[in-house]
Amino acid sequence: MGETWSQLFPPSPHFTEKEIPSLVGKVFIVTGGNAGVGLELVKILYSRGGTVYMAGRSATKIATEIEAIKAAAETETPEGQLKSLIVDLSDLSTIPGCVSTFLAQESRLDVLFNNAGLSRQPSGSVTTQGHEMHMGTNCLGPYLLTKLLLPILIQTAKSSPKNSIRIVFTSSGIIDILGPPGGISFAELEPGKHSDDMNRNYSASKAGNWFLASEFDKRFSKDGIVSVVQSPGTLKTKGWDGTPWVVRLLMTPLFYPPKMGAYTGLWAGLSPDVKSGDGQKFIIPWGRWHKTPKEEIVESLKTKEEGGTGLAADFWDYCELHTKEFGL
Ligand SMILES: NC(=O)c1ccc[n+]([C@@H]2O[C@H](COP(=O)([O-])OP(=O)(O)OC[C@H]3O[C@@H](n4cnc5c(N)ncnc54)[C@H](OP(=O)(O)O)[C@@H]3O)[C@@H](O)[C@H]2O)c1
Repeated sequence: MGETWSQLFPPSPHFTEKEIPSLVGKVFIVTGGNAGVGLELVKILYSRGGTVYMAGRSATKIATEIEAIKAAAETETPEGQLKSLIVDLSDLSTIPGCVSTFLAQESRLDVLFNNAGLSRQPSGSVTTQGHEMHMGTNCLGPYLLTKLLLPILIQTAKSSPKNSIRIVFTSSGIIDILGPPGGISFAELEPGKHSDDMNRNYSASKAGNWFLASEFDKRFSKDGIVSVVQSPGTLKTKGWDGTPWVVRLLMTPLFYPPKMGAYTGLWAGLSPDVKSGDGQKFIIPWGRWHKTPKEEIVESLKTKEEGGTGLAADFWDYCELHTKEFGL
């Protein structure tokens, strides 16, 4: 309970735009960079000179935000660059094209922020390929995107300081309180068997985000890649739009501005305190480790040989199976 309370009312952020070094020459992708937490993260990275790709499904929304950021930054003349990358994470067929477009422009990628996400989608919602909407958009899409970007991440790591090349997945504090046993129920991922409970589906996808961070960490830390998961906090964004108004009203005292959530991501992506092998830990607002993560999910991260349930490794296989036809 203490940790839940502390996630709802976190101590002041300690790793902000003031603490990070110049990002000139570094390249970032922020999925969902056109709104909410992602947009705030984009602004911070750009303000410190980073080249930032805002990946999203609407070229118009991204162009509008790029214009607004540049207009607001006119007097600061940052050396950074803002670029648009079009991808719909709920349609796996759009992901290889997005990656090719990126690779045609860049020869390095420092941090991939898998921030984009959907929540509280109506019962029965499915992706273009027919997967449960939360799981498809929040896990299968980011898995494929990350997998296709791995070669450039690994290449960048070869000539970069240790622990600086990272993949950041975005989870939620909801996994502490709701969701299937162990985090995910494979039975509920079967077509026609999806749960009618949108919070349960959302929570399962957010447990999946931690599974992916853990598995990418286990499999690719030898290649110099840091892969971690973070829960940005309770932020006032349009992500809450699907929630009944009365719940939103009750939540009002708990909401923080989305920029605070960006500080959690910033710590995950840039703090020297985050290292290879940290994929089994869980980052909470506004940039610190969860001291008492849910035991049954921690068990899922461990293989059967390690005394766990092996659910995360099984989830990797599930993601691989359902995305393998969408290569470059
Ligand atoms: N806000 C919170 O309290 C909270 C709490 C815990 C975790 N989170 C997580 O934080 C992340 C950011 O959420 P947010 O609160 O900033 O929500 P948001 O304001 O709704 O932003 C979500 C972003 O994801 C993008 N997105 C959604 N579906 C997409 C798709 N199919 N393809 C590509 N991009 C897509 C959205 O694009 P469009 O603008 O086109 O919709 C938007 O840019 C999410 O992963 C969310 O689960 C948020």
